[in-house]
Amino acid sequence: RTGAVTPGRGTTETPPRRAAIAARTLRTDRWWLQPLVTVVVLVLFIAYSTVRAFQNAHYFSEPYISPFYSPCITTDCEGDTFPELFTGPSWISPAIYILVIPLGFRLTCYYYRKAYYRSFWQSPPACAVAEPHRRYTGETRLPLLGQNLHRYFFYAGLVFNVILTYDAVLAFRDETGAWGHMGLGTLVLLANAALLWLYSVSCHSCRHIVGGRLNSFSRHPLRYRFWTVVSRLNAHHMKFAWVSLFGVAFADFYVLLLATDTISDLRFF
Ligand code: FES
Repeated sequence: RTGAVTPGRGTTETPPRRAAIAARTLRTDRWWLQPLVTVVVLVLFIAYSTVRAFQNAHYFSEPYISPFYSPCITTDCEGDTFPELFTGPSWISPAIYILVIPLGFRLTCYYYRKAYYRSFWQSPPACAVAEPHRRYTGETRLPLLGQNLHRYFFYAGLVFNVILTYDAVLAFRDETGAWGHMGLGTLVLLANAALLWLYSVSCHSCRHIVGGRLNSFSRHPLRYRFWTVVSRLNAHHMKFAWVSLFGVAFADFYVLLLATDTISDLRFF
């Protein structure tokens, strides 16, 4: 056995060392499959959302607005669902002003970090598979230090959830503005808003905000109750992360199909 004496422990026992194994991994199962699927799906989503964000067209079809463009805050916006706050250069898509929040929220999400650290950065790609990097500094330096902003993206994301829920409520109006309409698009926007709420409420930061820093739950029964609910949802956070990602892309795609007259909305009443 080799190694230095553990300082300050009052013992001459040497600490255990890792076994020196030349192979990158001894795993024989298909450990690479999950990181590969993650890369493919995330690249597809990033490509689709980038194209749509820069397209600057086909994001509104009365009474539906794409979640990629909501809240639409410039005077150049298609449709009229949110107060127009300023006139930006027409070559800048209105989506660019707002996407930084949902993007930052997902990018700093604890689950997505695990997913893209493993799949893109391979740090490490899977359990018991060595990473290709020689040094590990974790999230102690820039730019990864910025992951600590997650809590603030969470707060900002809640505002977006309220706005997208508002959009879903407006989708109960017809083209003339009269209430009582319901089409497939209404359900799509409602489902999208609901999934985004589930994704946000199951967030690890949310769990800490409602139940963290307490010494005694019995003195805070309400917070304990919230914490219990959030903890249950938190166990499914990975699922909500993926389903809400598909949900938001599908909601945008549905509005795109309507706005380009590729399909017409299925109306229930
Ligand atoms: Fe995933 Fe907060 S941990 S959204």
